[in-house]
Amino acid sequence: MSDPTANSDSNSSKSSSKSDEHIYQSSVGKAPSRRVTTRRLIDMKKSGRKIVCLTAYDALMARVLDEAGVDVLLVGDSLGNVVQGHETTIPVTLEDVIYHTKAVVRGAARALVVADMPFMTYQVSPEEAFRNAGRLMKEAGASAVKLEGGARVADAVRRMTEAGIPVMGHLGLTPQSINQFGTYKERGTDPKEAAQMIQDAKLLEKSGAFAIVIEKVPAELAKSITNSISIPTIGIGAGVFCDGQILVYTDMLGLTVDFNPRFVRKYDNLYDRIQEAVSAYGNDVRTQMFPSEDESY
Ligand code: KIV
Repeated sequence: MSDPTANSDSNSSKSSSKSDEHIYQSSVGKAPSRRVTTRRLIDMKKSGRKIVCLTAYDALMARVLDEAGVDVLLVGDSLGNVVQGHETTIPVTLEDVIYHTKAVVRGAARALVVADMPFMTYQVSPEEAFRNAGRLMKEAGASAVKLEGGARVADAVRRMTEAGIPVMGHLGLTPQSINQFGTYKERGTDPKEAAQMIQDAKLLEKSGAFAIVIEKVPAELAKSITNSISIPTIGIGAGVFCDGQILVYTDMLGLTVDFNPRFVRKYDNLYDRIQEAVSAYGNDVRTQMFPSEDESY
């Protein structure tokens, strides 16, 4: 086997060189650059610079997204749907998130990596939440954790933030509560629920959270929440007034074909484009057009 370090220039993995060394080299080398911090995100809110967030589940995509300038990579428990093929996020375990977070951390040089806390890893008690969040930071290398809910998770958020674990909240549509809601419909349309959400956001801030994801709520409610707190709001289906936006990366790249909510803008159609490329490869293999003499030894 060739020396895997022989081609270790940080840009070399991007070159079209066909050297064999290239094959054995990890594709996730890290370029040095200033890591995004929770403090930087709060400063971005103050200065009106929007925060760009996407999900990521592995080192390969983490590197692609990181180098494209994404500020926050969330190892969402959406990995249950996207990677594992489950209908909901409920079956995702702490071990699953640790595994995927380790990979994302290896791929990301600049973005803040936030690990989602799966269902039942923070609801039992603040102490258990604290221990599990600690594993996501210490074992997996996350820079922060995210959990769903308002008042009911405030003690857990306080326990973690007082010990130095940065916490991102998540209000509005909280997918881990699907069995309680019974639907993935928009939240906060009822004035009482909207008022409660504003209170929850204030409480999360008071408990030490550094940012809050707001999912699938009316744009005007997200605006009120954004204006009521000094930590950034990150919207998904929550309109343009949030301090940043997040999408599941497979949705915005058009890799997910059977999920088309109105809040997803598809920036590509990778499902079709990958199928075209793979069909072309299949055709070349079947007709012996691949490999060519140049691609042979
Ligand atoms: O799990 C996830 O990917 C999320 C985002 C959609 C916010 O929670």
